[in-house]
Amino acid sequence: MPHFLDISALSKEELRAIVDEAHARKAARVDWPKAKPDEDAPLDGHALAMIFQKNSTRTRVSFEIGMIQLGGKAIMLSANDTQLGRGETVQDTARVLSRMVDAVMIRANNHQDVLDFAEASDVPVINGLTDLSHPCQIIADIMTIEEWQGDIAGKTIAWLGDGNNVCTSLIHAAEKLDFKLRIATPADYAPRGQEVAAAKAAGADISVGTDAKAAIEGADVVVTDTWVSMGDTDKAERMAAFPPFAVNEEMMAHAAKEALFLHCLPAHRGEEVTDSVLDGPQSGAWDEAENRIHAQKAVLMWCLGKL
Ligand code: CP
Ligand code: NVA
Repeated sequence: MPHFLDISALSKEELRAIVDEAHARKAARVDWPKAKPDEDAPLDGHALAMIFQKNSTRTRVSFEIGMIQLGGKAIMLSANDTQLGRGETVQDTARVLSRMVDAVMIRANNHQDVLDFAEASDVPVINGLTDLSHPCQIIADIMTIEEWQGDIAGKTIAWLGDGNNVCTSLIHAAEKLDFKLRIATPADYAPRGQEVAAAKAAGADISVGTDAKAAIEGADVVVTDTWVSMGDTDKAERMAAFPPFAVNEEMMAHAAKEALFLHCLPAHRGEEVTDSVLDGPQSGAWDEAENRIHAQKAVLMWCLGKL
């Protein structure tokens, strides 16, 4: 079953095929009305259920519009409104939804719930963000980097801030696409050691440290994210630890001259990034947000055996 649970589970060829499909579908519908189906409407007659245990703007809308563009339909389920919110198990929910829809996207608090759901599902399951990872986001990020700078192979990407779910999926991509990843976080907020070790063992060029300036020096791409993710409860400690990792103009001056800035959004302006960087000429964050649509479509095509 082609579940899309983590980039680490894809082969290099599968990841490349997904990113190339995203580029091609975007190029084929420049300036089209946003809800007009693609010429080939490849998922005509197909339905996607989307389960959200956490808030979402981009993931929800991009999957829904993405399904419309592929010719199918998406159904939005807020976990609290379903029987999941009253204790029906993820396994039973998976069995039932498998009889009703062709694929399921889940945004969950606990990564294990997505793994359990996938185990019990007879249709492909897509990880729409968990406490561990956010693979859909990184497909859009790869796409955006390639639009701005060409092939991602050989580029140096700096991650500043929290070693969180988005950072983990970027680590997973580093072992597949041959870019250099320089991570700087406060010591208490480093990415999970086992993810870094696994990526390094697979040949990824990754460094992890606590010096933001050392990580960003000469980087082609600078990426950050919120200091307090959904579900984090230690806000005061985080707000004290993260300021040296803020991406401002002075920090960006250490990166390559034309370095690209990315942020998965939502941004906390004045915390992890300044207005001047997020709204400035090097910011690809708005392309990155749009690219969520094209990326989701490619992920759906892969999951449904159309690539
Ligand atoms: N970047 C991202 O996943 O945004 P949402 O939380 O709005 O879906
Ligand atoms: N790291 C953030 C990403 C939001 C899209 C979070 O998990 O809240």
